[in-house]
Amino acid sequence: MTHITSHIREPFNIRAVRLSNRLVQAPLAGISGRAFRLQARRYGVGLTVTEMVSSYGVRYHNARTLEMLELVEREHPVAVQLFGSDPEVMAQAARAAESAGADIIDVNMGCPVRKVIKTGAGAALMRDEGLAVRIVAAMVDAVGIPVTIKMRSGPGRLVTAFSLAMLLQDAGAAAICIHPRTGAQMWKGKADHTVSVKLAAALDIPVIASGDINGSVDARRLLESGCTAIMIGRPALGDPWLFSDLLAGEEPGCRSLDEVLAEVGLFYGDIVDEMGEERAERHLRKFYGWYLRRFRPTTQLRAALLHSHGFKEAERLIRQAMMQG
Ligand SMILES: Cc1cc2nc3c(=O)[nH]c(=O)nc-3n(C[C@H](O)[C@H](O)[C@H](O)COP(=O)(O)O)c2cc1C
Repeated sequence: MTHITSHIREPFNIRAVRLSNRLVQAPLAGISGRAFRLQARRYGVGLTVTEMVSSYGVRYHNARTLEMLELVEREHPVAVQLFGSDPEVMAQAARAAESAGADIIDVNMGCPVRKVIKTGAGAALMRDEGLAVRIVAAMVDAVGIPVTIKMRSGPGRLVTAFSLAMLLQDAGAAAICIHPRTGAQMWKGKADHTVSVKLAAALDIPVIASGDINGSVDARRLLESGCTAIMIGRPALGDPWLFSDLLAGEEPGCRSLDEVLAEVGLFYGDIVDEMGEERAERHLRKFYGWYLRRFRPTTQLRAALLHSHGFKEAERLIRQAMMQG
């Protein structure tokens, strides 16, 4: 059991994989592509995680799925998150991810979205403990790297994570990440980290807490309560500085427009490398709202950005609008 008070900058291990600190970037579907992970890495996180990758997509050599397995040297250590509901298909996908250079394989047992749970994957796996165990055991058998699990408090309304997490630990899981909302809550309400803390006390393997961690007070409270590491998703959207602020032990600060635009420019360069100019232009549009949140963009600017082509044009529109404002 891990009751030792830990500091966010202390290294820790998931089996043999050494992570330089206790800050993990959350998997975010449609968002945590390579450019996003490289950004999180530049701001110091100890571990990055891909968005969820379909095990069936890997099996059937879907081009977009295989693209998600393209990792680059400077992003390690990186976990590849897989979703699916068939032990053999998941084991095969785990082997493919290992060959692609993943340092860790993570299994999605938390996604509550209909498209995923109707296939028996994501949070639906928490309803069938026997199947969840068989999947993890098959994956642990198939690869030499650690297999970790990301789960919710429970698939429906009840908190069932404890018994499942114990079984998965026995099946060879190397760490558990808990987002302590139930499936029924989707993303509503507040993450209940009393669940994370109890889970950390009950398990021998590292427990990573995810959900509503907005600053160093939240982070410290969880680390001091026995969680091994913390994972951050939405609070770092448009604010990668949150990562470096947390590592420095500072409360989140405000960045100037010049700083923000310089960062978006770097981020865009990595998006272009990842998916080519045409797709990159569309992908970047998702992020403007987050980066500009603090600058209160007008409705006109938002609309113009939604039709902009690439970072240079967007930067010109933003500077023009801010000068007028
Ligand atoms: C848009 C979006 C996409 C997400 N995609 C994934 C995913 O692919 N895999 C996963 O395990 N969790 C996913 N999550 C859950 C997050 O990883 C995280 O656990 C949750 O958002 C709570 O943390 P936060 O408050 O720091 O965002 C997603 C959440 C959001 C909002």
